[in-house]
Amino acid sequence: MTPISCSPWDVKPQLEALHRNLLREIAGIDRIAAALYDPKTDALKTFVHSTDGESPLAHYDALLEDVPSLGELARERRPRVIDDLSVFAGSVHEHSRRLLELGYRSSYTVPFYDNGILAGFLFFDSRSPALFTTSVVEKLRVYGQLIALILLHGLTSLRTLGAAVRVASRVTHERDPETGAHLDRMSRYARLIARRLSGSGGFTDEFVEYLFLFSPLHDIGKVAIPDRILLKKGRLDDEEFELMKTHVLKGTGIVDDILGELGLESFPNALVLRNVVLRHHEAIDGSGYPDGLLGNEIPIEARIVAVADVFDALTSVRPYKEAWSPGDAFGYLHDRAGAQFDRECVRALEAEAVAAEGIRLRFPDEGRWGRQSREGYTPDL
Ligand code: C2E
Ligand code: SIN
Ligand code: SIN
Ligand code: FE
Ligand code: FE
Repeated sequence: MTPISCSPWDVKPQLEALHRNLLREIAGIDRIAAALYDPKTDALKTFVHSTDGESPLAHYDALLEDVPSLGELARERRPRVIDDLSVFAGSVHEHSRRLLELGYRSSYTVPFYDNGILAGFLFFDSRSPALFTTSVVEKLRVYGQLIALILLHGLTSLRTLGAAVRVASRVTHERDPETGAHLDRMSRYARLIARRLSGSGGFTDEFVEYLFLFSPLHDIGKVAIPDRILLKKGRLDDEEFELMKTHVLKGTGIVDDILGELGLESFPNALVLRNVVLRHHEAIDGSGYPDGLLGNEIPIEARIVAVADVFDALTSVRPYKEAWSPGDAFGYLHDRAGAQFDRECVRALEAEAVAAEGIRLRFPDEGRWGRQSREGYTPDL
């Protein structure tokens, strides 16, 4: 296996750009480094780093066998937080000693994988002790995924952005009561609607595929919503719902950051992604959020995703509700067609009711958290 398709000088500017961006969200991450693993020789080598300040650290070049603490992370597929590196003061590991000498005090280490095989580690280091709290680690996950993808595939094209988007959306929904199956279903409902509409002379195949690719990212902004709201068993009160509504603007901020970092803002299909995230809770009669847009002011991709998302939300279990029958969900959409929902989009899904039922049965929920448990999550690319 040759996991790396790009050289350090290709990816270094991208890593540095992501690092700058990350510092705006989380101050105190002074260094990001990646080490790559070669399974044939068991060698672990520093590949690229982005360091705020002087003295680049001596390169990491070891056999994984000789660094049992990292070997354990790799086997158990879990990240590691060290709140105070001075526990390694007497370490036999030259590397840990050097980190400490250079003033680093806390670290977060994540193994990453290519097709299930260990491909390397990401190291986030800080000069502040105990920087890597649960909420910081949560924010780092999306960045960790992107960095791993940049390293493994070289993020140069929109196709690779698609891969990043798929992985990032899995990360997003890890904390979310919605499972991966929700994303599988709702993106397919969206595609059904879009295909049906394109029959009446609408969109290109390319648009339909991008919509399919991007629609699972509609709720990426939920990463910014606290658990007490996101996982609340009962109804949200007004204040909680106001906070929940910010997920569309938070999500748009994340999308803009990612597109900006990758230099893809001006790519036309990037706007499809942005509109899906920003506009999926707008309503035809202007009663939606965040801006109360009316009718055709709402981009068609968002009108499609709104119908797909609500149909799936209604027919699924949530912490705050039981699953509705497909018949009840169709009735709900039908009653609100022309008011909340785009009439044509509702009609398209109704016309595809048999296919929609096939999708619903093909992607059942796997359990509350989907495939991965919350604590044990490790990027698996
Ligand atoms: P979600 O669970 O993915 O739901 C997406 C959309 O489906 C909702 O957007 C709403 O339009 C529709 N929907 C879902 N469940 C129901 C339902 O039982 N009845 C009706 N009439 N519509 C439903 P909305 O309302 O803007 O909510 C956005 C997100 O806010 C939801 O995403 C969910 O994460 C959260 N949320 C909304 N209401 C509650 C609640 O009462 N309790 C909790 N814990 N979360 C809520
Ligand atoms: C490196 O930075 O060279 C890899 C190891 C680490 O930072 O802990
Ligand atoms: C070790 O070297 O065993 C742990 C410290 C590190 O490299 O981050
Ligand atoms: Fe949403
Ligand atoms: Fe959703």
